Amino acid sequence: MMLHLFSLAVLFGELTSKGVVGFAPTSLNAPLIKWTTTKGFSSQSTRRYQSNDEDEEPELLEKLMPEEEVDWRTEFSERMKFSDQEMEELRAKLKEEIVDASINADLEEIAKLKQQLAEEAIASKKRMGDASKLNAQYGKQNLMEKIDQMSAEFLGSNEEFREATKRIAAADQMAATSGRGVDWGSWGTVGGLDVVVGESTDMPRLLGSVDSARRRGEISSDADGDKPVVSENRILVISDEQKDKGVKRVMAELSGLLDKAFESDIKIDTYTPASNIPMGGNSAQVALIFASSLNDRSSLESLLGRVLKRTAPVAGGPAGVPPSHVVIVSSLGTERTNKMPYSIQNMFTGKLDKLREIEQSIVSISRGRSDGGKMPLDYTIVKFGDVANDDGNGSGESIEIRPGDHLDGEIGPNAAANVLLQAIAFQPYARNSTLCAIGSLPSGVSVETSVWNDKFVCLSGPEILRIEAGPGAKDDDKILDPKFEQLAAYIKEWSTAYEGDRKGTGLTTPVLVRNSRKGPSEFDGVISREGVRILFQTTNTGDRYKTASEDKAAEKERNSGGSVKKSSDPAKIISKARKEGGVEILVEKTKDGQLRVRARRCNMDHKTIVKEMSEEVILSSLKKAVKAWVEARGVTGF
Ligand SMILES: *[C@@H]1O[C@H](CO)[C@@H](O)[C@H](O)[C@H]1NC(C)=O
Ligand SMILES: *[C@@H]1O[C@H](CO)[C@@H](O)[C@H](O)[C@H]1NC(C)=O
Repeated sequence: MMLHLFSLAVLFGELTSKGVVGFAPTSLNAPLIKWTTTKGFSSQSTRRYQSNDEDEEPELLEKLMPEEEVDWRTEFSERMKFSDQEMEELRAKLKEEIVDASINADLEEIAKLKQQLAEEAIASKKRMGDASKLNAQYGKQNLMEKIDQMSAEFLGSNEEFREATKRIAAADQMAATSGRGVDWGSWGTVGGLDVVVGESTDMPRLLGSVDSARRRGEISSDADGDKPVVSENRILVISDEQKDKGVKRVMAELSGLLDKAFESDIKIDTYTPASNIPMGGNSAQVALIFASSLNDRSSLESLLGRVLKRTAPVAGGPAGVPPSHVVIVSSLGTERTNKMPYSIQNMFTGKLDKLREIEQSIVSISRGRSDGGKMPLDYTIVKFGDVANDDGNGSGESIEIRPGDHLDGEIGPNAAANVLLQAIAFQPYARNSTLCAIGSLPSGVSVETSVWNDKFVCLSGPEILRIEAGPGAKDDDKILDPKFEQLAAYIKEWSTAYEGDRKGTGLTTPVLVRNSRKGPSEFDGVISREGVRILFQTTNTGDRYKTASEDKAAEKERNSGGSVKKSSDPAKIISKARKEGGVEILVEKTKDGQLRVRARRCNMDHKTIVKEMSEEVILSSLKKAVKAWVEARGVTGF
């Protein structure tokens, strides 16, 4: 800072001795000029200066002479100095300019920028006459201090970012050459152990839960002379093709796909619910259950009671390991039975209500196992509409996947089978989540791994909003993309509105704003990522702030979670800090060079009540903010 003030003094001296300095033709002109004119500094005469305050004495400036500076300076500065809000606005504008202009710049370039700023500040003030010259210096000094601080901060954080980017890029590269993923998302390894099932595979794939793979790995690495636990690739399918013709079409495609994915080294055992299903599910890793074959919730419960049972070792063989991943195929509309056309489908038989109960049942069975010393169970609920006769003769795929129950329409049998294959063996985000899918995948059309990953990435959170923000900067050589950086800085700035007393944000829930911890991820197809988390906090006023829909959600939660597992220790719940939920906003640059903003739920566990109203408030503000950014981008053409 000392050094800087010194250079400032030199700079100022130099410029004033040179006399009038013109406006430098730089992009920095625009915001500065605009700002000075709105402030009321007219270029014609000091007389035109009017404060917004009505009681301002118009003759004041006339009376002030430079020679008398010692006497009037204090008062004058008080009148002329920038208000906090003005400083704030100016700072935001300058910051934007700096972030924009100096992404790849070194300190020298920033110094140049500062010089230009100083020149312009002086030039514009000069026109106000001698009296304001001193004030300009005062204002400038304030300003320069801020800029100085900002650029230091900017460079500091950027350095970290650069380093992190390089590290991650290096790690990704290593992971790519060794065929393993870097993060859990790509599940190449769990706890240092390979969980890839099968041999010579170019894509990581996993049957059964991550946890059971880890245990299997631990057992087989116990080199106590025990024979390693050999596991066959096995899938248990429960379906009733008589009850649901679509199932037959889907299974015909799926068995072919599984054979291909596991190089024919896989067994598929198919049973109807009424048949004699083996205890422990034949030690299959996955149970794929078409809910249309079940009558209701209790049929699922008794079925799983059998299938998930551990079986005793037979004649010196290893003990059986029951399935650790249950995939339930359900139907679109089970969460929308009040809406057409689902209300009609549900009307006489309550068909969708029953499916909904089955969905809720698998969720609570999975959760209930986590604290009982039982083997953990992953679940996936996949919702399809009607299964079409075929996928058509098109030349492209049209598969859409969303979390929850939000899509309407048919699905082709090949598309459905591929979605199931992904959910069963390839997609970590499909674990413990509910998804719906529509569309078609004509045979002969192949979908790349990265495209599949991108279709499933919305399940993480889950995602509640995605806005495309156009391409990043063109220059591909740069590690840092100025467009991305600018958008990220902009979103961070936006999020500060929720800090402090959050006045005027419309939120009734208190929040904390924190940086996102999610870095770029090869698996997610994201090369740059930054973001913020807006975390909901407990209200002292408690339930008074709950909205109708939040109340409903709470009630639902009680209904679904309560009936299966009621006996969990209440003391344990109280002692644990409650996760109140939150919204994480991620600014991302994808592998294709596109910028996007995604919002996902965060800070959740299964006791968290979703705060839909608060989410909506944040999302609608975010939409506006991103829209403004995209529009500004259109105007300035960058
Ligand atoms: C899925 O949820 C169950 C129960 O909460 C848990 O035991 C299991 O580890 C989870 N699986 C994954 C992959 O997170
Ligand atoms: C696809 O092509 C076959 C023969 O080329 C034709 O019989 C069939 O009707 C076509 N299907 C669709 C959905 O266009």
